[in-house]
Amino acid sequence: MTKVLIAPSILSGDFAMLGESVACVEKWGADYVHVDVMDGTFVPNLTFGMPAVKAVRSYSKLPFDVHLMIMNPEKYVAQFVTSGADIVTFHPDSSSDIHGALDTIKSMGAKCGLALNPDKSLDLILPYIHKIDMVVLMGVYAGFGGQSYIAETDQKIMALKQIITERNLDIKIEVDGGINCDNASRVVACGADVLVAGNAVFGASDPAAAVQRIKG
Ligand code: DX5
Ligand code: ZN
Repeated sequence: MTKVLIAPSILSGDFAMLGESVACVEKWGADYVHVDVMDGTFVPNLTFGMPAVKAVRSYSKLPFDVHLMIMNPEKYVAQFVTSGADIVTFHPDSSSDIHGALDTIKSMGAKCGLALNPDKSLDLILPYIHKIDMVVLMGVYAGFGGQSYIAETDQKIMALKQIITERNLDIKIEVDGGINCDNASRVVACGADVLVAGNAVFGASDPAAAVQRIKG
């Protein structure tokens, strides 16, 4: 069985040394750098945009997994890819041109995906299932790091895994929010391929050990 991939979120890093946080993610043995982009409208918090992604891109060779929590992502996806994003995901309920945004990301050679908050049904992604490389299932409501994992997410992961297996699709399931050393193995058993971890990695006294423990 392939090992789960770990994507530490630099949202939990030190914003005064964002490049250093990006470099640490690679040093700690993780697989992706997860970048949480928030606009203060789709979610009640603001983080960083394209210039910040571009500025820190050279600090790591790992793929940049950019999670857009912004309204109208179709307006910005191209600029995020140009700035160094390798994977771009967004929430279908934030976009009026989902097909267009996905097509733009793919046409630029990056991977694309859709993200679902805990109260959003898997039905929302089904029309795009043949186009996407990843589905992000939120274990918390998007907006802030350090929240607790919502237990019902387990069933959603299993249901999505079943759809992917039955239809023989090549789609990764990323679970984002509230992942820690205690729940990671259960979430992987449900079907997760990639785990985002913010506080559980950046808040650990030994982040490299935390990455290994979450990997299981
Ligand atoms: C929430 C973000 C997550 C989150 C992860 O809006 O998308 O990536 O910050 O942080 P933890 O692991 O601390 O929940
Ligand atoms: Zn995220």
